[in-house]
Amino acid sequence: MAKDENEKIVVGLDIGTTKICCVIGEVNDSGGINIIGIGNSVSRGLKRGIVVDIEPTAEAIKKAVEEAARMAGVEEIGPVFAGIAGSHVKGINTEALVAITGKSREVTTGDVERVIEAVKNQSVPERELIHIISQEFVLDEQDEIRAPVGMRGQRLRAKVHVVTASKARTRDIETSIEKAGYSVDEIVLQPYASSESVLTYDEKELGVCLIDIGGGTTDVIVFTDGGVRHTAVISIGGMQVTNDLAIALKAPIETAEDIKKTFGSAFASTVNEMEEVRVKLIGDRPDRIVPKRIIAEIIQPRMEEIFELVSQELKMSGTEGKIASGVVVTGGAALIPGIEEVVEKVLKLPVRVGYPQGIGGLVETANSPIYSTAVGLALYGAKAKSSGKSGLRLSTQGGLDNFFSKVKRWFVEFF
Ligand SMILES: Nc1ncnc2c1ncn2[C@@H]1O[C@H](COP(=O)(O)OP(=O)(O)OP(=O)(O)O)[C@@H](O)[C@H]1O
Ligand SMILES: [Mg+2]
Repeated sequence: MAKDENEKIVVGLDIGTTKICCVIGEVNDSGGINIIGIGNSVSRGLKRGIVVDIEPTAEAIKKAVEEAARMAGVEEIGPVFAGIAGSHVKGINTEALVAITGKSREVTTGDVERVIEAVKNQSVPERELIHIISQEFVLDEQDEIRAPVGMRGQRLRAKVHVVTASKARTRDIETSIEKAGYSVDEIVLQPYASSESVLTYDEKELGVCLIDIGGGTTDVIVFTDGGVRHTAVISIGGMQVTNDLAIALKAPIETAEDIKKTFGSAFASTVNEMEEVRVKLIGDRPDRIVPKRIIAEIIQPRMEEIFELVSQELKMSGTEGKIASGVVVTGGAALIPGIEEVVEKVLKLPVRVGYPQGIGGLVETANSPIYSTAVGLALYGAKAKSSGKSGLRLSTQGGLDNFFSKVKRWFVEFF
């Protein structure tokens, strides 16, 4: 592939607890992507969303990226957009204020830069700053402003959601990617990436809670009025459900995983009482016949626990009554039948299962909640790469290059 064509290529790399997935996309004229390559590998170096062993992680990354590159016919892989999750990730709402100087008292990109710098200065040096995502600007008394440049006022306040992570854990992700032979463009919060591929504009405006249930973690992100209000990582996922089944049925983990995926349900009362499943037990004990209803009764309490923890997050963050469009569940564990019924029972909100949207190309291959994060990372990458567009609009105020070098791509999250 020619070099100028290569500049249109974005690489999303989802380093998950159970699988590593690489999505290669070609940026199209409308800023979306056509997926031209997907590669998967089994993840063995992670626990609950965190890299605990760099070597196997690097190997799995290499395998997934090489597979995607081969499919896409891309020889050189540029810097990747990689996800981050795990209990060390924290999201908080904060704000900063600057005075608007100059005769006209018109807000410039420089003023926006200063207010973002003021947010940055509040952060703790031992934490890695992952995102500063704007909620709104307030100019004097006027709130709910989205793009303040060119408006008049004396005091500019930015209300933002700041995501930070452990520096060491972030470095472990970067090291794994570098060991695999690639470089990092940006590290992105996993549920923020998933929101790019799964949520609609209207859902974010009306208020929505996205729940990404993976193998090791459940990632939560809440949008109201188009902005991110809350992010959280809960350290329970689908592997815990498999573990519960293995213990309760005295079956090996692989058997429990197969049973869950083939016969599992998250809502016991709708499962036929008469249907039965043959289960292979540990050692040379004879197979056991188990009613499907019993399997669902083992799975349901763990799923309820996950959504009860989400409910607590919504209460604590004060977003509980503000999510008019309800809940979207995604991630591999969202594939279990009965998931909508459990969400409705616990959270008492409308629910749908989220599949990646806004893509062309290999749509069928990517059409699973398992790919929401990887596709979202590529979509985020496409947006970040085309941030020059919003830059041009602002460059009339001058100082743009300097602005980008200082605050990286945070800017793109503002407009
Ligand atoms: N059809 C299915 N029914 C039930 N569970 C499923 C199904 N398919 C996949 N899963 C579960 O989904 C989980 C993996 O989901 P996913 O690929 O989103 O996780 P991950 O990204 O590797 O992990 P994490 O995001 O937690 O780091 C596993 O626990 C798996 O058992
Ligand atoms: Mg995941």
